[in-house]
Order: sequence, then structure tokens, then C-alpha cells
Amino acid sequence: MRRNSRDAELRERARLVIPGGMYGHESAALLPDTFPQYFARADGAYLWDCDGNRYVDYMCAFGPNLLGYRHPAVEAAAAAQAAEGDTMTGPSEAMVVLAEDFVSMISHADWAIFCKNGSDATSMAMVTARAYRDRKKILVARSTYHGASPWNTPSLKGIVPEDRAHIITFDYNDLDSAKAAFRSAEGDVAGVFATPFRHEVFADQFLPSAEYATGLRRLCDEADALLIIDEVRTGFRLSRDCSWAVHGVAPDLSAWGKVLGNGHPISALLGSDKARQAASSIYVTGSFWFSAVPMAAAIATLNAIRSTDYLERIVAVADRLRDGIDEQARRHGIPVRQTGPAQMPLILFDDDPDMRKGSFWTGTAARLGVYMHPYHNMFCCAAMTPADVDDTLEITDRAFAELKNALPSLPAQPNERLLQRLAQRR
Ligand SMILES: Cc1ncc(COP(=O)(O)O)c(C=O)c1O
Repeated sequence: MRRNSRDAELRERARLVIPGGMYGHESAALLPDTFPQYFARADGAYLWDCDGNRYVDYMCAFGPNLLGYRHPAVEAAAAAQAAEGDTMTGPSEAMVVLAEDFVSMISHADWAIFCKNGSDATSMAMVTARAYRDRKKILVARSTYHGASPWNTPSLKGIVPEDRAHIITFDYNDLDSAKAAFRSAEGDVAGVFATPFRHEVFADQFLPSAEYATGLRRLCDEADALLIIDEVRTGFRLSRDCSWAVHGVAPDLSAWGKVLGNGHPISALLGSDKARQAASSIYVTGSFWFSAVPMAAAIATLNAIRSTDYLERIVAVADRLRDGIDEQARRHGIPVRQTGPAQMPLILFDDDPDMRKGSFWTGTAARLGVYMHPYHNMFCCAAMTPADVDDTLEITDRAFAELKNALPSLPAQPNERLLQRLAQRR
């Protein structure tokens, strides 16, 4: 039997009944064929594909796995709530407890509204900002990702210009560009989206300057517009508070998702008193937004965030991985760039505009039992141990050696779908 025969069969069946064949993260669907698309189970730091192959998983479900898959305390809390009731005619006590927990943990937050996906939270932030002073314009840094709604999805298929008529873009980490965007809005800025650090696909990650963070806050204050921090991807992996608290910047709104229930579906919009009236005035709801099981899971997750050294452990394994990869890249003479916070690693190869080196290297690692991504930021979780990293490094070392041998023939293996996607972005 081939290593991925069940995966191949599921892809074939999916092609018939699911548009595009692989409903899911575009960043997974575009991966080379050596990567599995379908998974059977997950535990701690590991993932098993539908053919039974095990991986040390550096994607963590594209973020949600913070403490380890099937974390015992989170799953026990979810199971206890499930035994009582989940989606009911109204919320359970868990919703109030969870909101209280957020308000006590996140320094800028005076209230919380819960939803399901990050896109729910960012869209609700946009609507709240517009309701705040009845203004229209929303400022967003160019090419930053805030979700898959018509106003912000990176693909323009099916989107009409009117969907984005009041979105104004500016350059990340460039205060002059942000000022110009404010000027062009002529007093009609409702809110500004800020990304904790620049983490877009295909490009090196970088941190904002303190001047940029404090400058955006000042510009919003001068214009009486709301500052919105999108923590959906970064939340609780950089800090136990909102990430720009290190710069002394408190947003008016922050959008959270992914990790909140350690894999259970829940996201949140948090806000300060300044935005409370606006948030009370908008119409938002969803059939599953009040489900109690994800809220119970989130209460347990926040408890672990408060009371354990999960973050310090994540940073320690992440640094170990980064140092090991750096040493291997130097020894094999294949330069790589590792950018952004180590706990959200991105590894790009020099002279690799179409990601072929990265695709080959991560594809080889996947074949050998390590799931990494060639051009999307990865995620470390608290279930990873130094021994997992050492096992990983043994495999990446082999992947570097195979890449070195394969380098002369790599141009013969383009990934057409990926090349098309890259061309669209450039
Ligand atoms: C920064 C950021 N904002 C918003 C979203 C949208 O979240 P979701 O996919 O849960 O709707 C994402 C998803 O990756 C994200 O990374």
C-alpha cells in the first residue's frame, strides 16, 4: 500500500462533492502532494494523517492548539459541560464567567462578546468602530490578513468594489503612510486595524517599532477613532495580555480567536468602556455563538494560561528549534531566514522566489514525520518537549542533506497552483 493511499482516495472523492476538492485552509490545499490533506487524530504535539503516519505538528491546526491537542483539563471541562448541555435556547453561566476571566486578564478589556471564528470578531470590530461615531472609513495595513469576509479576503473573486469602498490601506510600520491615510479620509475614520507583528504568507515576518505602535494610538486619539488590535493569530503566544501592552499601547477593541478554546470553536471581541455603547448598539448574533462547551473549554484554557508556565515552555522549545535549524543551515551551506517571534516560526530560503527549496525541504520533513510549512508562519505549542525538537532536528538535518543533493534538479518540479497564487500576489 502507498504511504498516502487513503489520503489519495479521499482527495479523489472530495473532488466530486466539495468545490475545489479540498475545502480547507488555502495554505494547506496549496502544499506539495507529499503533504497529507486529511488527518485522523491528534494528541499533544502530534498529528496522525488518515493513513496512520505520525507527525510532530508545527502548524498546531494553524494556531488553535496552544496547550497540546486533547489537553486533559480542557477536554475534561468540555466533557463536563457537554454532559449538561451545549447549544441551548440561551447562553449558560459559562459565558459570564468567561467574560469575567477575560476582563480580569486583558488589561484594556472591560467587556467581551463571544463568537465562533476570527473573521466574526474582526468584522464585529469593524461594525463597532463604525457605530462609535457613525463614520465609514476603516484603515488597514496593506496585505495584512484579517479574515475571509468580503471586506478583507485576499482573493477578489466574487467581491465587488463596493464591499471595500470604505477601506483605506497604508503601509505597515510606516507612520507617515498611516497619517496620509487619515488625511485622505477627511475626518471620517471609524477605526484602524493593527496587527501585533507583520506575519503575512510568502514574506519575512517583522516586528513593529514602538514609535509605530504608539503613533497609531496617538493618531486614533487625535481623530477620535478606535484602535483595533487583531490578536486572532498571535493571541496568548506572545504574551498573556494584549501584545502591544509591551509598548504601553491599549487598544479600544481587540479581536481574538484560534487558541481561546485550545481547539474548541470560539472567538471573541474584547473592548474598553469607551467602545461599550457602540458595541451595545450593533446587531450581531449567530446560531452557535452561545454554545456552552467551547466556553467551558475556553475557561479551562484561560486558567492554564494564568496558572502555568505554558508560555515559557513554548518559548524554550521554539528557541531550541530556531538555534538548531540555524546551525544546520550554516553547516549544509544552504542559507535560510528565520523571522518573527521564535514561537511563531517562519523559515524561508534565500534565492527561493517560488518557494521550491522550502517546499522540497518541508515536503521531505513531512515524509519523515515532521509537519512544517514552506511559507506560512508556523506555531509551537506547550506540549512540545525538548526531545520532540531534537527528533525534529534529526529529520530536518536529513531534509537539508536531501535538498542539497536535489538542488540541481529542483527547477524541474514547479508547483503550478502555488506559482499561480504567488503571481496573483505580486
Ligand atoms: C490575523 C488574523 N485575523 C483574522 C483571521 C480570521 O480568523 P478565522 O479563520 O478564524 O475566521 C485570521 C486567520 O488566520 C488571522 O490570522
